[in-house]
Amino acid sequence: MKVKVGINGYGTIGKRVATAVDQQDDMEIVGVTKTRPSFEAAMAVKLGYRLYVPEGREEDFRKAGIKIAGTVTDLFGKADIIVDCTPGGFADGYKRMFEEAGVKAIWQGGEDHSLTGISFNATANYKESWGAQFSRVVSCNTTGLLRTLYPLDKKYGVEDCYVTLIRRSADPGDSKTGPINAVEPSTKLPTHHGPDVQSVMPWIKVHSMAVKVPTTIMHVHAITVRLGKDATTEDVVKLFSKAPRVKLVRTKDGVKSTAEVMEMARDMGRSRGDMFEIVVWEDGIKVEDGMLYYYQAVHQESDVIPENIDCIRSMCKLIEDPAESMAKTDRAMGI
Ligand SMILES: NC(=O)c1ccc[n+]([C@@H]2O[C@H](COP(=O)([O-])OP(=O)(O)OC[C@H]3O[C@@H](n4cnc5c(N)ncnc54)[C@H](OP(=O)(O)O)[C@@H]3O)[C@@H](O)[C@H]2O)c1
Repeated sequence: MKVKVGINGYGTIGKRVATAVDQQDDMEIVGVTKTRPSFEAAMAVKLGYRLYVPEGREEDFRKAGIKIAGTVTDLFGKADIIVDCTPGGFADGYKRMFEEAGVKAIWQGGEDHSLTGISFNATANYKESWGAQFSRVVSCNTTGLLRTLYPLDKKYGVEDCYVTLIRRSADPGDSKTGPINAVEPSTKLPTHHGPDVQSVMPWIKVHSMAVKVPTTIMHVHAITVRLGKDATTEDVVKLFSKAPRVKLVRTKDGVKSTAEVMEMARDMGRSRGDMFEIVVWEDGIKVEDGMLYYYQAVHQESDVIPENIDCIRSMCKLIEDPAESMAKTDRAMGI
């Protein structure tokens, strides 16, 4: 029996989770929700998804010629688990609805850890969500930090970590945010990224700052780590080359910026040109006097997608071994 998955909020993250669920053999999409009869709603129906809408909005969709299968409450009653990919601000209301329907739910990194009390990253804490009713897949940036910091901490110990996040200002499909010709520092310090890493690795010391820049394709992190044990640059390169969902690239191969990283993702033939891995510049890794320096790039629209699949498996008790679930997800998604 396949696990029945519903997607609440079929946007940037929601549509990608739907595609990734379709690629797995132990789960299936039973429906997706949309509140407005936009082109995305029409596309969802065209792709064969059953579309559910809030009560009272049915007529808007009918008028737009978009076929609906029922209301959101109908979907919540049919699914084993809902992957909630709505923008921030709606979680409390939906949580009550999920509780009433007795359905499991996963939220995304836009929500606070306090909503679920459990945050998820497949590499770092797969088992914490085992059988849980509610969990939260951490944000794209936090996922990126956990993918490299967890293996580093396990092997060498992370005594202290300083991160500067250079953040994309909007997603490629957005026209609503900026800046479009400026660099905007986050003045609420330290930024929420350090505490968010601690929602999964509470023992780790991470200090974060962030600036937004006029780019849409990826975030970049500049990371400095004081290691607990001696390691060479080569040791860290070897560790990252084996770390799950981490990809090494080299400037000498022509990958000088996020532009070439995303071109590589498109050349790899991934759905929507996505780069699910965290990309680390091999020739940008350096250990000196016990300090490790490295840069990594995060494809914000897609790095959390395989994490959502593994989170479904953990919460629905499909596969107990994290490595086995991750390998299955990655095989199906071509990672
Ligand atoms: N984009 C990223 O880079 C990124 C990365 C990692 C995590 N996240 C997190 O993922 C979550 C979703 O972000 P996103 O970027 O996918 O947002 P998005 O592209 O704006 O998509 C959200 C979708 O939710 C729908 N929606 C709006 N209000 C709704 C409501 N009341 N009930 C149900 N659906 C509603 C919207 O469509 P309609 O209005 O047409 O219904 C929209 O398609 C957030 O928590 C975000 O922080 C985002």
